[in-house]
Amino acid sequence: MDGFLWPPSEIGVLKSPVRLTIENGRIVGVEGGLETDVFRRWLSIFDDPKMYYIAHISFGFNPGARLTGVPLEDERVYGCIKFGFGSQFLRFRGRIGTASSHSDGNCLNPEV
Ligand SMILES: [Fe+2]
Repeated sequence: MDGFLWPPSEIGVLKSPVRLTIENGRIVGVEGGLETDVFRRWLSIFDDPKMYYIAHISFGFNPGARLTGVPLEDERVYGCIKFGFGSQFLRFRGRIGTASSHSDGNCLNPEV
């Protein structure tokens, strides 16, 4: 993640990247800069294994969206990929279902 990561509310726009290692759809490692410990601790406070699963992957397609600290705009920055972790809307018909919470973060210049 190098754009925004929210919640936890202490983060928002990232000052330095947070690198997540994903295996089988699940976060197994959190490394990186200033906000890394905050995010790792936030995930762990729920004591909920579902918080570590990818709930969705979305693409940003709004050419007018900027990284502002408002999550609903940050997640739409053109060309980004947004990852959601934790609770998954039931209409997605995924296998995660409800978790203790949900967090979103994006990568600003991914290659797909
Ligand atoms: Fe999300």
